[in-house]
Amino acid sequence: MDYRQLGRTGVRVSTLCLGCWRFGEATNEQDAARIVHEAIDAGINFIDTANMYQLGESERILGRILTPAMRRSIVLASKVHFPMSESVNDRGNSRRHIMQQVEDSLRRLNTDHLDLYYLHRPDPETPPEEELRALDDLVRQGKILYAGSSHYAAWQMCRSMWVADTRNLSSFVVEQAGFSLMRNAAESEVLPCADALGIGIVAHSPLAQGVLTGKYHSGDVPPDARGAVRDPEVARKAEVATPAVTRLLDVAARVGKSPSQVAIRWVLQKPAVCTAVIGPRTPEQLRDNIQAVGWELPASDMSALNEVAVQI
Ligand SMILES: NC(=O)c1ccc[n+]([C@@H]2O[C@H](COP(=O)([O-])OP(=O)(O)OC[C@H]3O[C@@H](n4cnc5c(N)ncnc54)[C@H](OP(=O)(O)O)[C@@H]3O)[C@@H](O)[C@H]2O)c1
Repeated sequence: MDYRQLGRTGVRVSTLCLGCWRFGEATNEQDAARIVHEAIDAGINFIDTANMYQLGESERILGRILTPAMRRSIVLASKVHFPMSESVNDRGNSRRHIMQQVEDSLRRLNTDHLDLYYLHRPDPETPPEEELRALDDLVRQGKILYAGSSHYAAWQMCRSMWVADTRNLSSFVVEQAGFSLMRNAAESEVLPCADALGIGIVAHSPLAQGVLTGKYHSGDVPPDARGAVRDPEVARKAEVATPAVTRLLDVAARVGKSPSQVAIRWVLQKPAVCTAVIGPRTPEQLRDNIQAVGWELPASDMSALNEVAVQI
């Protein structure tokens, strides 16, 4: 496994982060346990979940899987923002919601602190000072060690940094952005902004939810694939991705790797990216994804893929 700095911190994280979005849904607890154990055995030390994944079930499953020794060895991240009930205040980035939700996440995850706590989305209705002051208080209380943003625009990252600097508050150390060959809009503003500010990019969904494995283009989609059973939108995206996937298959054949390994590698070789958050549904998929580490895509193949990356 390779390790990089977690944005503006002294912490080193594996270049692959294990995403647990589907725990308790597409991945049952038994498979989740096998995936977590194998990931840690392979050197992955960064695990990602969120309060809203199956309304807390992903966190509950992780809390049962992680022994104290495993918990100590990993960098554990969760998130807050999305509605957790019908109640009007049970959502967003208000101080009230953040303070309530962090306690719920800690209880479900069976831990006394989170290493990293993200605001899952910007909240136009909460002043930036309110959300940053709440996160800063959590850092001072030791309930979280670092804060991150997710899906913030470059101007929102700059504004948060300015508000934090002028009020002497902890600021975001990373931005978690959706970034892949199928979704490279972040490359025009968010990545250069992160690079300039020293904020790390945690790139989620490097396989565009499975589209960049090439399986939707093989004419033989497995019946349990996300696009076949749960998310028809994934299958629709596969249509748009055809030129990118065709080029990806060419490059993969040339370098002797699987398309998913090349797609993840492309993400990892972009500026400011410290880690890619993968979401293997099965241990077999994890084993494939892990082989994206420990080698380099030549510059000519990076350029060939840059030409077909989809600008959304
Ligand atoms: N911050 C945010 O807003 C946000 C948003 C989304 C995700 N995330 C985080 O990012 C993580 C990863 O997201 P993601 O699941 O979209 O990641 P992804 O890596 O783009 O897609 C993962 C999916 O691709 C398929 N796949 C993976 N490897 C494969 C292989 N070797 N062969 C065939 N199919 C394979 C599997 O789906 P099927 O087998 O079911 O087809 C798997 O669940 C999440 O768990 C979450 O932690 C964060």
